[in-house]
Amino acid sequence: MTKTFVKTNNLLVNRLFRTFIVVVFGILAVASCFDANSARYSIQSSKTYEASMFRQNCAICHGPEGEGKTLDDGRIIPNIRDGQHKYTTREQIYDHITNGGNGMVPFRDILTEKERNMLVDFVLNDLRRPPN
Ligand code: HEC
Repeated sequence: MTKTFVKTNNLLVNRLFRTFIVVVFGILAVASCFDANSARYSIQSSKTYEASMFRQNCAICHGPEGEGKTLDDGRIIPNIRDGQHKYTTREQIYDHITNGGNGMVPFRDILTEKERNMLVDFVLNDLRRPPN
């Protein structure tokens, strides 16, 4: 009598445990879809031409993920993706990449007009999305 009771009880515990595991994994799977960081664009791991241009021409000053830094000579390089931005419109950003200024080198003779335009889109659409 007691033996049968223990057996059914074990079965029930077993079933409950399995349900518990399934529910926990279900919640984890759904939660991972909402992870805010998973949506963040990674310049370092992107295979696009724009990301490659950024790594070759811009990362030395702006940092590998465009987060900005202070150079050895004390120049403060702004974060080009988060926070407040000095240049916000297409025209301003294009002009700044082309002509440089305030510590940034001009890319007029280094990148073609098409490449500079691609970088403007890259900054606006990949790095500053959601816009901030
Ligand atoms: C020699 C270092 C240096 C390099 C290389 C460089 N930048 Fe900059 N960048 C700066 C500095 C310094 C500023 C701040 C200029 C200012 O305050 O007007 C800046 C500002 C910017 C801004 C404006 C940020 C804002 O707040 O609106 C953008 C966009 C930008 N850079 C993009 C690029 C891109 C794209 C490249 C590569 C093609 C690049 N930079 C390469 C130093 C650099």
